[in-house]
Amino acid sequence: MKKVAVYPGSFDPITNGHMDIIQRALKMFDKLIILVAYNPEKKSLFTVEERMNLIREVLNHNKKVRVDCSSGLLVDYVKKEKANVVVRGLRALSDFEYEFQMALMNRRLNKEMETVFLMTGYRWFYTSSKLIKEVAALGGNVKGLVPDLAYQQLQEKYGLNKK
Ligand code: PNS
Repeated sequence: MKKVAVYPGSFDPITNGHMDIIQRALKMFDKLIILVAYNPEKKSLFTVEERMNLIREVLNHNKKVRVDCSSGLLVDYVKKEKANVVVRGLRALSDFEYEFQMALMNRRLNKEMETVFLMTGYRWFYTSSKLIKEVAALGGNVKGLVPDLAYQQLQEKYGLNKK
């Protein structure tokens, strides 16, 4: 039976930290669904379509990956896809409480679903889409923290010239 996992997130935009987690997850699962999921706490810069297209492009349309979106509960999506494993990346300690809460809430909603945490490469420990957007918006150089195409799109969104 194929091992399918769902990697949910806002991906606004996808970063090299996300790419690192995707590469690690691809070694463990036969198929990975990258789910651009609704996070009510966050106001997004990129539309859902833009985020999905960007992810597809930077992953070179990898056949083991499917990119999808959902505005409902993660547990419902996972059940519908018969996946039962959710992948989340962990950076430093600060992620822990938020991730712990979500994992346990999701477990309460669906006892069959497991959340697997993968530790991101140490190079991405301090980065996040939020921080990258803040720096890019103010003209700081975020090259190397996001895939090149994401960098170009950030520059365009903020009307900045390439650095
Ligand atoms: O990249 P993010 O913003 O940290 O990802 C958070 C995300 C999108 C995974 C989370 O908000 C989520 O699962 N949203 C879907 C709606 C849902 O199921 N909410 C309850 C989570 S316990």
